[in-house]
Amino acid sequence: MSPGQQRRFVLPESELPTHFYNIAADLPEPLPPPLHPATREPIGPEALAPLFPMELIRQEVSTERVIPIPEPVREAYRIYRPSPLIRALGLEQSLDTPARIYYKNESVSPAGSHKPNTAIAQAFYNQAEGVTRLVTETGAGQWGSALALAGALFGIETKVFMVRVSYEQKPYRRSFIQTMGATVVPSPSRETNAGRQVLAADPDSTGSLGIAISEAVEEAATREDTKYSIGSALNHVLLHQTVIGQEAIKQMEMAGDAPDVVIGCAGGGSNFSGIAFPFLRDRLAGNSQTRFLAVEPASCPSLTRGEYRYDFGDAVGMTPLLKMHTLGHEFRPAPIHAGGLRYHGMAPLVSHLYELGFIEARAYGQNTCFEAAIRFARTEGLIPAPESSHAIRAAIDEALDAREAGESRVILFNLSGHGYFDMAAYDQYLAGGLTDVEYEPVAMATAEAVA
Ligand SMILES: Cc1ncc(COP(=O)(O)O)c(C=O)c1O
Repeated sequence: MSPGQQRRFVLPESELPTHFYNIAADLPEPLPPPLHPATREPIGPEALAPLFPMELIRQEVSTERVIPIPEPVREAYRIYRPSPLIRALGLEQSLDTPARIYYKNESVSPAGSHKPNTAIAQAFYNQAEGVTRLVTETGAGQWGSALALAGALFGIETKVFMVRVSYEQKPYRRSFIQTMGATVVPSPSRETNAGRQVLAADPDSTGSLGIAISEAVEEAATREDTKYSIGSALNHVLLHQTVIGQEAIKQMEMAGDAPDVVIGCAGGGSNFSGIAFPFLRDRLAGNSQTRFLAVEPASCPSLTRGEYRYDFGDAVGMTPLLKMHTLGHEFRPAPIHAGGLRYHGMAPLVSHLYELGFIEARAYGQNTCFEAAIRFARTEGLIPAPESSHAIRAAIDEALDAREAGESRVILFNLSGHGYFDMAAYDQYLAGGLTDVEYEPVAMATAEAVA
């Protein structure tokens, strides 16, 4: 590293984005619509009304290019936004690469990840329409933490169905959610028909994001006073996350660089879209050659191994049908430590853009991701979330590839969260106790798969 090279690119609060960027306005072909499971006809807004406030339904189907961010949302964002862009000089040096590596640090939010970007917006729109109670699911606990935080900020009672394996592996995520004033229940639970149905078939079920979604959707659909909130996959969630990429565009300009490749880990697709879509706008307009790389776990590879077809968003089959890359809604991902990447499907927008050839995808096993995470921790001083370590693995491989090719590639990745509530996973990795779980296109879900 040359002395004096700038490491942090920080925007003032006045540069906080004023609008969300809606990529639906720039798609070369429109997104296939959600379908009613019985009629297979496109659903109208009324079908979603029991679950979401009208403004979020409007955003879900909007093709307006920009949507203003309400002032109370921007005010709450100012607790942690704009987030810094960091040049990973230590990592570059350790790899002896001519590549320049940058990361957008979304771990600085109070909940520790990018998830509050949409949680805050969703809590605001619900509050504005008089909703007093929200229910949701959480995989790794990051999304539950974010909604609990947003519920506290906007005075909304919040309940979280937390995938059982994470509930047990990550007691302090549970405590975080409770400290913020929300209720947390391990899923599958006996509180819903969906949960009871799963437990009847498999009393030892460790749960999955799809099952927890079924439980939360059921509770919202059957309670007048409650709406549902989702942490990923749907269009309005990806829309809210575009604050990440909009800031990153300005910060890369400050750095005098433009990314050759933009990388994000992908569970349901929201943090990847958040950093990628604002840059993709130029690529869709034919003005850039930037590559976009979504990184997923080898044990739950919806983009690289899934089929592109209509499927349910939840495990039990209660949601509308979405056209997406899916491993099948019956698929039960193995309980790897990147809990937030254990989802059978992929956001319809990401799936569509992948089909159209604008996005690449890659899958990695968890050991190689932890190895990358530890290199990052020891060179950059920050312990990443196991989910984010997938993006780091890909960024390192891009940097090594650039070294091989003798090219000065510019790599930008999203650091979607920190791993300070995931130290049990690091303990296991350091003790040599992690198994790489290969994807098998049949139901497979037992705790032994990881231990
Ligand atoms: C830190 C972190 N990164 C990534 C993800 C994956 O979600 P998405 O693909 O929606 O960004 C999660 C989900 O919980 C997460 O907690």
